[in-house]
Amino acid sequence: MNSFATVQYRRAGRTAYVTLNRPEVLNVFSVQMRDDLFEVLSAIRLDDDIRVMVLNGAGDRAFCAGADLSEFLTAPSALAARQIRALRDLWGLMRSMPQPMVCALHGYVLGSGVELAMFCDIRIAARDVVFGLPEAHLGILPGAGGTQTVPGAGGLSQALAMMLANRRMNAEQALRCGMLNRVVDRDELAGAVESMVSSIACRRPETVRILKQLVARGDDLSLQEGLRMEFRQLRWNNMDGLDKSQ
Ligand code: COA
Repeated sequence: MNSFATVQYRRAGRTAYVTLNRPEVLNVFSVQMRDDLFEVLSAIRLDDDIRVMVLNGAGDRAFCAGADLSEFLTAPSALAARQIRALRDLWGLMRSMPQPMVCALHGYVLGSGVELAMFCDIRIAARDVVFGLPEAHLGILPGAGGTQTVPGAGGLSQALAMMLANRRMNAEQALRCGMLNRVVDRDELAGAVESMVSSIACRRPETVRILKQLVARGDDLSLQEGLRMEFRQLRWNNMDGLDKSQ
């Protein structure tokens, strides 16, 4: 196990477990947490032996209750903050992770907690989860992709109700609108995540990586471009006969 100031990293077999680890303040997302996550995920990204990554939060009360409000307006200057953000682009890094990322959610999932979850590929939640995007309520904007990722996952109308009217969503609502893959009782969360991890980890690693890449990249393309990309990939991997014969 490797411990950073705000994140715990553990590896079991071919699975990497990354835990937001500030339970005393509901795992709120700080500058240090951004840097720790950037370091851990950069290492995972380059490790071909890791097949799947799990992201979760320590403690009983929250996956992550959003940005650390005690840090607001403490950056040395807006320019310095922007430069550092560009250098340690955690959100870009999450989008480019070759391994599937499974997110285990419980308790409060607010602000950047939602945004972190949206950058994961599969989201499994405990029944007690509470989603919210209170940024506008605080007079700021969701700054970690939320305006783009939440509508894609949960639908435009639900996303706008959360962002504009500070509406919270419970697990069943989030499941219904597509933000979650599965909802389970809290004591079943770890088991449900493990079951998902092993269903992915037992596949051919190359197939998993290519599939994830095709689906993720396809999200930014027109259908026609996406189909062309899929076709090129089938050719490249000599798999084009396989699908048609089945
Ligand atoms: N930034 C910094 N510290 C935070 C925090 C945040 N976003 N959210 C919670 N904390 C800290 C609290 O200050 C408290 O610390 P303390 O024990 O040293 O006083 C600790 O976490 C526990 O939170 P508390 O407010 O006592 O728990 P609660 O059960 O009464 O309420 C919430 C839980 C999530 C409803 C409440 O903490 C909250 O509204 N937090 C702010 C959420 C938010 O606006 N996030 C920013 C989104 S951009």
